Amino acid sequence: MIRPERHEGWEACWLRHRPYNARKLERYFRVFDIDSLPKDSRILDIGAGLGDSLRLLMARGFHDVRGIEPNRVLLGLAGDLPMREGSCLDPGWAPPGSFDCVLIFGVLHHLGSRGEVETALRGAFSLLRKGGFLCCVEPRPSIIRRAAMAVLPLIPVPRFFGYASTAAELMRLEGEGLRRWFGIQPSLLKTAEAAGFKSVFIHDDWRCAFLKLRK
Ligand SMILES: C[S@@+](CC[C@H](N)C(=O)[O-])C[C@H]1O[C@@H](n2cnc3c(N)ncnc32)[C@H](O)[C@@H]1O
Repeated sequence: MIRPERHEGWEACWLRHRPYNARKLERYFRVFDIDSLPKDSRILDIGAGLGDSLRLLMARGFHDVRGIEPNRVLLGLAGDLPMREGSCLDPGWAPPGSFDCVLIFGVLHHLGSRGEVETALRGAFSLLRKGGFLCCVEPRPSIIRRAAMAVLPLIPVPRFFGYASTAAELMRLEGEGLRRWFGIQPSLLKTAEAAGFKSVFIHDDWRCAFLKLRK
C-alpha cells in the first residue's frame, strides 16, 4: 500500500492528491477525445508521475502505452507499468517518429526556463510520427488562479477538506515555479509552432489551458 506519510514535500502532497487524479485525467481524455484514437495507437505519457494515465488508457483498451518519469520516488511507487526513468529534456532514448500520440499533462510548468520548454516541445515533436498528436495541459494565469495563489498561503486549508487542501498545498509548493510559468504560458502556442507543430485546438478553463497539436 502506498503511504503518503512516508514521503515528504511535493511527493507526499502528490500522493495525498492521487485519489482525485483519475477524475481529472478522465476529463482531460474527454477534452482531447482520446477515444477517437485507434486502440493500437502508440501513446507516450511524458512526466507520467505514478502512471495513472497509463492505467486508465489500458483500461480503455489501449495496449501500446508507455511513460517516462524523472522522479525516482514516483517511479518506484508506480508499480508494474510500462514506465522508465527519463526527462522531456532528453528524448534520445527512443527513435524519432516512435509515437502516434504524446501526452504532457502538468509537466511543462515544472521546467526551469523558456529554453527548457522549447527543448521539451522540440523533443516531443521528434518523438511523434508525421500526423501524430501532442496533447498538452498546463496551468494558466486566470484571475481566479492568481487570486487563489495570493490568498491561499495566508489561510492554510485543513486536511479534512480533502481535494481543496491538497490543491492549495500543491499551489503553495509550486508557487515560485508557477509564477515563472505564467510568464511563459501565454506564448506556448507560438513556441509549439516554432517547434514545427500545427494547432488543432486550444481550450481554456479557469484553471488550465488545453492545447492539442499535430505534427
Ligand atoms: C503534476 S505531476 C503530473 C503527473 C501526471 N502527468 C499526471 O497528470 O498524473 C508533474 C510530473 O512532471 C514530472 N516532471 C518534472 N520535470 C520533468 C521533466 N524534466 N521531464 C519529464 N517529467 C518531468 C514530475 O516528476 C511529475 O511526475
